[in-house]
Amino acid sequence: MHEPLPDGGMIRKLWISETDAYCDHLLRLDLESRRRRFSGAVSDDFIASHASSATGLSVVVHGFFVGGILRGAAELRRFGSLLIREGEAAFSIEQLWQSHGVGTVLLERTLLSARNRGIKSLQMHCLADNQRMQQLARKFEADLKFDFGSVVGEVDPPRYTPMSLLREAVVDAHGVANAILDVQSRILKPA
Ligand SMILES: CC(C)(COP(=O)(O)OP(=O)(O)OC[C@H]1O[C@@H](n2cnc3c(N)ncnc32)[C@H](O)[C@@H]1OP(=O)(O)O)[C@@H](O)C(=O)NCCC(=O)NCCS
Repeated sequence: MHEPLPDGGMIRKLWISETDAYCDHLLRLDLESRRRRFSGAVSDDFIASHASSATGLSVVVHGFFVGGILRGAAELRRFGSLLIREGEAAFSIEQLWQSHGVGTVLLERTLLSARNRGIKSLQMHCLADNQRMQQLARKFEADLKFDFGSVVGEVDPPRYTPMSLLREAVVDAHGVANAILDVQSRILKPA
């Protein structure tokens, strides 16, 4: 998997204990990015409650970390029970790290996770003026059906295969190894 990420950045799934880091990241978004992420103006309290709900089997959050700090995230949320094959995805990248390819890698990971969870239809709410998100979606034209005249894009991930499941497992193992190395290198770094 090609990952042209900004220097020092890495992507891995968030752990259950990291909802506070997710909340802090969402609160750091500039006003315009916050509006685009939530398709409208939302309060800090709303964000805190949203972040704390990002746990459990129906939610997968991929995080983009720099120096151990969460700077970007892609949230995949299944609608309702595990039997329901529909979900939604939303993306948030802090301003300094936008337009550096992070969203592309996060969307790729999200589509793989959706596919492996049997999600057949994935919605992405996108404001009509959000050119960057629309460009990003166009890069995945083969997997996405997007009507830019409306605010909702529909993704139709193909069915999972043993190879797609293996791909996600390998990427996850790589993410854990990177996280351990990252913590070690920061601990050993001279003050
Ligand atoms: C929208 C968002 C997820 C895109 O992620 P990103 O990391 O900035 O995007 P990428 O760098 O991967 O770029 C994706 C494509 O967008 C296009 N793009 C990049 N910067 C752009 C800009 N300033 N204006 C228009 N298009 C742009 C490029 O065509 C790029 O494709 P390319 O790499 O083939 O050239 C991110 O900017 C973000 O979090 N924005 C705020 C919140 C938001 O809008 N969320 C989406 C709704 S859920």
